[in-house]
Amino acid sequence: MKIRFLGHASFLLDDGRSRLLTDPYLSGNPDAAVSPDEVQADYIFVSHGHGDHVGDTESIARRCGAVVIANVDLLRPLFGGKGIKTMGGNFGGWEELPFGRLKLVSAIHGSGVAGALASGAVIEMGGKKIYFAGDTALCADMMFLKEEDIDLALLPIGDFYTMGPEDAVRACKLICPKLVVPMHYNTFPVIAQDPEYFRTLCREAGFECRVMEIGGELEL
Ligand code: NI
Ligand code: MN
Repeated sequence: MKIRFLGHASFLLDDGRSRLLTDPYLSGNPDAAVSPDEVQADYIFVSHGHGDHVGDTESIARRCGAVVIANVDLLRPLFGGKGIKTMGGNFGGWEELPFGRLKLVSAIHGSGVAGALASGAVIEMGGKKIYFAGDTALCADMMFLKEEDIDLALLPIGDFYTMGPEDAVRACKLICPKLVVPMHYNTFPVIAQDPEYFRTLCREAGFECRVMEIGGELEL
């Protein structure tokens, strides 16, 4: 199971057969590791409707024939009638997929689309369980993730729009992931953070944290 960080909240998860891309904010992000026409994906998970998460979803989905996965209330206004393959479940239900399954979970954050909620996702892929938080505040629902036995938690630490480093460590205490990777920081001046500070806080709390370089890869 390989995870490549493309920048901001975009990761490419690859189990050797299927590739799932999260929140592909690439052409708008000068620091992105790849351009939207370089990335290959079979599935694209979109956590919510803000521009730094929807990003290049439409063009990548069209070129690759990828299935866009998001909350159904978000999918219809954003991608309905565009000739793109979509799969829209809702909170708490597992969606079965060829690579495993995916469940939408709470995120405390605006979705940018009236009537739709922002979400995170628990993703089972390659025999591993990954929690992709999307944009969120610390929230009590995270305590339910502890029983999911999360191998990897991808958590925002940028502050201002989402949890900052201190709350992200409190999230770790609820989730108890085997490994945590910070995301959603340093892309814009208001979310400037030192990820090494977060790593130190994690270590002090007994959690393993890996700070990924943009374009870097880790194996689970
Ligand atoms: Ni957002
Ligand atoms: Mn964001």
